[in-house]
Amino acid sequence: MGVFKALVLLQLVYLSTCMEQLDIIYEWNQLDFEFPSPETRQQAIDNGSFIPENNIPMGLEVFGDRLFITVPRWRNGVPASLTYVNLKDNSTKSPKLIPYPNWEAHNFVDGKPAIISPFRVRADRCGRLWVLDNGKIGSLETNVTKFTPSISIYDLKTDNLLRKYVFPEDQVKEESGFANIAVEDIDCDKTYAYAGDVGKAGIVVYSWEKNDSWRITHHFFNPDPLACDFSVKGYNFSWTDAIFGIGISAPNADNFSTIYFHPMASNNEFSVSTEYLRNKTVAEQNFDAFKVLGSRGPNAQSSASFVDPKTGVLFYSLVNLNAVACWRTTNKEYLMKNQGRIYMDDIKMIYPTDIKVDYDENLWVLSNRMPIWMYAKLDSNDTNFRVFSAPVLKAISHTACDVTPRSDILDKFVNKVKNVTKNISSKLNPSSSTIVAPSSLISLIVLTVLSLFV
Ligand SMILES: *[C@@H]1O[C@H](CO)[C@@H](O)[C@H](O)[C@H]1NC(C)=O
Ligand SMILES: *[C@@H]1O[C@H](CO)[C@@H](O)[C@H](O)[C@H]1NC(C)=O
Ligand SMILES: *[C@@H]1O[C@H](CO)[C@@H](O)[C@H](O)[C@H]1NC(C)=O
Ligand SMILES: *[C@@H]1O[C@H](CO)[C@@H](O)[C@H](O)[C@H]1NC(C)=O
Ligand SMILES: *[C@@H]1O[C@H](CO)[C@@H](O)[C@H](O)[C@H]1NC(C)=O
Ligand SMILES: *[C@@H]1O[C@H](CO)[C@@H](O)[C@H](O)[C@H]1NC(C)=O
Ligand SMILES: *[C@@H]1O[C@H](CO)[C@@H](O)[C@H](O)[C@H]1NC(C)=O
Ligand SMILES: *[C@@H]1O[C@H](CO)[C@@H](O)[C@H](O)[C@H]1NC(C)=O
Ligand SMILES: *[C@@H]1O[C@H](CO)[C@@H](O)[C@H](O)[C@H]1NC(C)=O
Ligand SMILES: *[C@@H]1O[C@H](CO)[C@@H](O)[C@H](O)[C@H]1NC(C)=O
Repeated sequence: MGVFKALVLLQLVYLSTCMEQLDIIYEWNQLDFEFPSPETRQQAIDNGSFIPENNIPMGLEVFGDRLFITVPRWRNGVPASLTYVNLKDNSTKSPKLIPYPNWEAHNFVDGKPAIISPFRVRADRCGRLWVLDNGKIGSLETNVTKFTPSISIYDLKTDNLLRKYVFPEDQVKEESGFANIAVEDIDCDKTYAYAGDVGKAGIVVYSWEKNDSWRITHHFFNPDPLACDFSVKGYNFSWTDAIFGIGISAPNADNFSTIYFHPMASNNEFSVSTEYLRNKTVAEQNFDAFKVLGSRGPNAQSSASFVDPKTGVLFYSLVNLNAVACWRTTNKEYLMKNQGRIYMDDIKMIYPTDIKVDYDENLWVLSNRMPIWMYAKLDSNDTNFRVFSAPVLKAISHTACDVTPRSDILDKFVNKVKNVTKNISSKLNPSSSTIVAPSSLISLIVLTVLSLFV
């Protein structure tokens, strides 16, 4: 009985120090758009250019007063694939999406809009929005139309298009799908963008200075055949997605950053210095510059990830667990026990799809129930899409990523448990000096605590 009480007590202590530390800022049952008038909205519904249930938010980014949201054209009836909402407007928790930079960029001209289908975007510290355009229309319809993927870069002060770079044909493969972009903006004139190809494992590196790109491949970008099975909210499916999460660190002493990456179909995390990505020859000559950090454990496939440059904390999603977790990149080891849990909820956090930290040190997360949307149908009477936020320091407090190292907290628990069990054992068996049972009990309890961190 004592053992069970101690276990329950410890779990309660753990849970109470691990409150869900993100607030819900926005939530939607279905997405709607800020049309020029109610009449044009109705026309768009009537002529099929707006089919509300076909719209799903995929990527988010925050810059100044704007929260950007991408809406990929996986199905027909997406009126605008890159949008924003005004963070200052607190009149509603379910704001209508405003097309970015304007409606014109999303109208079909000669069979395609200027912005076709971005999944994720990145606002750099130099005030530029990097829009990685997947280029595909109707991937989930019977008819897919493919255009060449590209990066469009907008000036966030004027919203003018600074540059559009269309990927060279030889860097785009038949199965290619560009879903994530990381931007290394140490120098605004010598900025590099890293675009992950989730369909055909690779990274296309773009140099702003050279206005040129090259494709890097490495076997660590590939999906792990043993980690392709997913189970989200009762929907079981198999995805062979390659490199997905790309988190980029603040510059190291050598002025290069570290990229932390993982394929979607994988439980492992990897890293590489950007030194090896900035030159294709150097990458090919240094295969061992790509490192395996370690495993998050079973069932721990992750989609998006992001490194907060200030705290050095890597935030990542856990899609099977309806959770967002973290790891301090200053940790020497990437172990299960030094992964922290930020938020976990079987209703609200179904499929965390994007994670960012803004320039005011706030963490942002978007969840969108994508597998249900893909394989069944979302209930339009239920809240399906949510935007969460909290200051980074609040989000990581009392987790393994906190400034107080987890091991200290653990040691405290272990000491306390030791004292309690010493007392229990001395009561059970006052004459016994050996405490074999209690020590195995301690390890059992410690294991239980550790298992909660996964
Ligand atoms: C549908 O209606 C909208 C709103 O009036 C208009 O912008 C769009 O061009 C129309 N699309 C088609 C295919 O007619
Ligand atoms: C909404 O925003 C206005 C203006 O920024 C502010 O005065 C008001 O307190 C805000 N209301 C809430 C509920 O946050
Ligand atoms: C498929 O897309 C192509 C190119 O847009 C178009 O010409 C063709 O009519 C479409 N087919 C169907 C069945 O919609
Ligand atoms: C960058 O390169 C692309 C294609 O190679 C070209 O179309 C574009 O004009 C170039 N932009 C600049 C600013 O040099
Ligand atoms: C889905 O997968 C989970 C976990 O792998 C398993 O427990 C469950 O039985 C599966 N459900 C179906 C319908 O196959
Ligand atoms: C890193 O960049 C800074 C600023 O440009 C420069 O002063 C410093 O020498 C660089 N360090 C190295 C190791 O190149
Ligand atoms: C890339 O690295 C190779 C080998 O070190 C070097 O010869 C080449 O000039 C570099 N290319 C660029 C564009 O810097
Ligand atoms: C949503 O709720 C309304 C009112 O309760 C109901 O009439 C409608 O059928 C519901 N729709 C769905 C998709 O469940
Ligand atoms: C456990 O007991 C030792 C002395 O037996 C004491 O120094 C220590 O502070 C106690 N730890 C806790 C967490 O109570
Ligand atoms: C151990 O037992 C003693 C006396 O039975 C009690 O004073 C002490 O508080 C107990 N320690 C712990 C950690 O429960």
